[in-house]
Amino acid sequence: SIDNRVKDLMSRMTLEEKVYQMCQYVGLEHMKEAEAKISPEELEKNDALGFYPGMRSGDIGKLAEQGKVGSFLHVVTAKEANELQHLAQKSRLKIPLLIGIDAIHGNGLVSGSTIYPSPISQAATFADDLIKEGSRQTALEMRANGMHWSFTPNIDVLRDPRWGRTGETYGEDPFLVGNMGVATILGLQSKNFGGNETVIACAKHLIAGSSSINGLNASPTDVSKRTLFEIFLPPYRRAVKEANVFSIMAAHNEVAGLPGHMDKFMMNDLMRDRWGFEGFYVSDWNDISRIDIWHHVAKDFKQSIEFSINAGMDMNMHGPIFDNHLIELVKEGKVSEERVNYACAKILETKFRLGLFENPFVKEKEAQKVNFSKTHQQNALEQARRSIVLLKNDKNILPLSKSGTGKTIFVTGPNSDNQTTLGDWVSPQPEENVITMVEGLKSIGEANGYKINYFDSGDRSKEITDEQIDAAYTKAQASDMVVLVLGENSFRHDWKRKTTGENIDRATLKLSGNQMKLADKMFELNKPVIVVYVSGSPIAEPWLEQRAAAVINTWESGAFAGQANAEIMFGLTNPSGKLPLTIPRSVGQLQMVYNHKPTAYIHKYNTEKKTPLHPFGYGLSFSKFEYSAPKVSKNTLSNLEDTVDVTVNVTNKSNVDGEEVVQLYINDQISSYTRPVKELKGYKRVAIKAGETKAVTITINAESLAFYDKDYNFVVEPGDFTIMTGSSSADKDLKKITISAPSLLMLEKAK
Ligand code: IFM
Repeated sequence: SIDNRVKDLMSRMTLEEKVYQMCQYVGLEHMKEAEAKISPEELEKNDALGFYPGMRSGDIGKLAEQGKVGSFLHVVTAKEANELQHLAQKSRLKIPLLIGIDAIHGNGLVSGSTIYPSPISQAATFADDLIKEGSRQTALEMRANGMHWSFTPNIDVLRDPRWGRTGETYGEDPFLVGNMGVATILGLQSKNFGGNETVIACAKHLIAGSSSINGLNASPTDVSKRTLFEIFLPPYRRAVKEANVFSIMAAHNEVAGLPGHMDKFMMNDLMRDRWGFEGFYVSDWNDISRIDIWHHVAKDFKQSIEFSINAGMDMNMHGPIFDNHLIELVKEGKVSEERVNYACAKILETKFRLGLFENPFVKEKEAQKVNFSKTHQQNALEQARRSIVLLKNDKNILPLSKSGTGKTIFVTGPNSDNQTTLGDWVSPQPEENVITMVEGLKSIGEANGYKINYFDSGDRSKEITDEQIDAAYTKAQASDMVVLVLGENSFRHDWKRKTTGENIDRATLKLSGNQMKLADKMFELNKPVIVVYVSGSPIAEPWLEQRAAAVINTWESGAFAGQANAEIMFGLTNPSGKLPLTIPRSVGQLQMVYNHKPTAYIHKYNTEKKTPLHPFGYGLSFSKFEYSAPKVSKNTLSNLEDTVDVTVNVTNKSNVDGEEVVQLYINDQISSYTRPVKELKGYKRVAIKAGETKAVTITINAESLAFYDKDYNFVVEPGDFTIMTGSSSADKDLKKITISAPSLLMLEKAK
C-alpha cells in the first residue's frame, strides 16, 4: 500500500532528507528570467533579486541533484520539468519532484495552453459541471507538461472589490464560492486522487485576505470570529469535507493580529482536527520569512519557521536557509521530529499517489497534442458563452439584426484587440489561439452583413491621447453604432500594462486612465453606444451606463472572448451569465454585498443611493422568464436527513430559446445571532425553449438552514425560514414561502 511505501522510504531517510522534502523553489527558467532583468553589478548585491533572496539560477540544478528539494514551482515547459526530474534522479534516494504551478483557469503560464475564463467569469456561469470538466481538462494539460499541483482554487470570499485579485475569486457569496471551489477541486484532483491524469488542488489563501481593512493586498484583516465562520470559512469546510482538497495555502495577511502563516487554530485545530483536512499546507511566497520581516512577531527567520511549522505548516514556498534552520530547530527540540515526519509523509504520499515514483518524466511531444485540444477549446468557449453578463439592453438594441444590410459598426477601446480578455496568471498565448474582441466582431459581424470599422488606440500600456480620441471620433462619424471595449487589465506578462491584479489594488471602482474621456467623445456622436467591459473587477460607472444603449460585462472570458461576445451581439447565443458579486455605484458604498445583516441599510448616505448599481445574481437575457410562486414538498425540516424540495415553474414568455439561472435564497426569521437578510442556498441553470414552462426543483437540507451558535456548534435553530426564489437577489425578483424547523438540529459540535 501507499502507506507502507511511505513508511519504508522514510525509514531510510535522514532528518535532513525529510526536511528537504518540505522545501520548494522556483524553477530554473524563472530564476534565469529574473536574473536577466538585473545588471551584473546589481546582481552582486545580496538582496538585488528581492523576491528571490540569496538565490541564483546556478543553485537550482544543484539543489535537485543533491536531493535538497521536494518541490518546484513555476516550471513552465515539459522540457524543463524533465530536466529537473533527471537531476533529482541523480540524488541518493532518487525521490521525484512535485512540480506546482498557478494553473488558475487553464495552465496559463504555459504558452499554448487552453485559457478558460477567469474564476470570476466561471462563477458568473453558475454552471458547476462545466467548470469541473474544464478543471479536469486543465489537469490533463498539466500532467502532459510535467506539472502535478495547481495552486487553485482561490476560495477567498470577495468582500472588497478594490482588491486587485477580485478576478481570481468566485465572488462574494460563500455558497457559490464553495460550489465553484468544490467543482474545481473535484475536476483537478477528484476526491480520491491518483494516477497520471490528476493533479492535486490547493485551496487558498487561509484566510480572509480578500477583506483587508484598506482593500490592499496583504494588509491586515480585522474580522470577527463569527464573520470568519459565516463568510470566509464555509468554502474551506466544504473543500475539505466534500472534495478532500489535498493542499491549502496560508494567506499573506494577519487576522486580528495573527499572521496566517502561524495561525495554529486555523491550520491545525479547525481544518485538521475539526474538519478532517488530510493533506498538507504550503506557505505563500516567502511568507514564513515575513512573520518577522513584515509582521514583526518573531525575532528572526529561524523563529518564524519555528512558529509556522509548529502551527501546522508543511512546505516553504521558495528560498534557502529554511532547511538549515528547521534541522537546527528539531535538534534543539523546538520543533518536534513528528511534525517533520508528518509533513514529509504527506508530501511523499502525494508523489506516490500521482505515480511519480513509477515515472517522473513526460513525453515532450505528447504535450503538444493535449494542450489546446479541440475538446478543451469547446469547453472554454461554452464557459465564455455562459459567463457573459448583459447588464443593460435599452429598447432591446441587442441582439443586432441578423441582416446588417451594410450597416457599419465602429469598434474601439483599449481592450478591443489584445489579450487582456485572458486575465491574470496567463503568459502571452499564440495569436492564433486567441480570438480578440475585434476579431470576433469582424468574423461574425461581417458574416451577418455588417461592416466593421476599427480604430486601434495602440499599445495597452499607454494612455489613449487626446489626439487619438479625436481621430477615433472622426473615424466613427461614418458609422451607424459604436462598440466601446473598455475595462481593466490584469494580463500578467508585462507589469507595466496592468491596471489591476495581484498587488495592483484599486482605490476607485471607476474606469482607469482616459477611458471616460474616450467614452464621452463617443456619446457626442449621438449614435447608439454598446459598452463592453473586459475586467475581472467590477466597474462602477453609473453615468456611463445611463447613456449607453447596452452594457455587457464580459469579465475575462478567456481565449474565445471575442467569439462569445460577438455571438451574443448578433443573437447566435442568448446571454445567461449572472453577477457573482454586487456592483456598487461607487467605492464609497463599500462594503456592499447582497447578504448583509438586517441593519446595514436602516440609514442612508447623504450623497449616494443605498441601492447597488447591479445586484448579485442579476443578468439579462433575450428571453423573458416568468416565475411562479415557489411550492414546497413539505413545510417542515425535522431531522438531519430531511430534505425539502422547492419547486418553481419558469415560463419563457418570449420567442427566443434561452437559459436561466434559477436562484434560491433563505432567511432565518428569528435567530439567536443576527443573520443575513438573504443567503443563496441553491441554484439551477436550465434551458427553456420559447413558450415553454419548466418545473425547476431545488432541494434544501439541514445544512442550508444551519449557522454557528454561541459555542460555534453548527446548528439549525428551531423556527421559521423564508425561502425566496427568482432570477436575482433583488427583492423585486423574488417570490417567497415559509418553512419551519420544529426543533434544534445539531450538524456538527465544536471541538
Ligand atoms: O499561488 C500564488 C499565490 O496565490 C500568490 N503568491 C504566489 C503564489 C505562487 O505563485
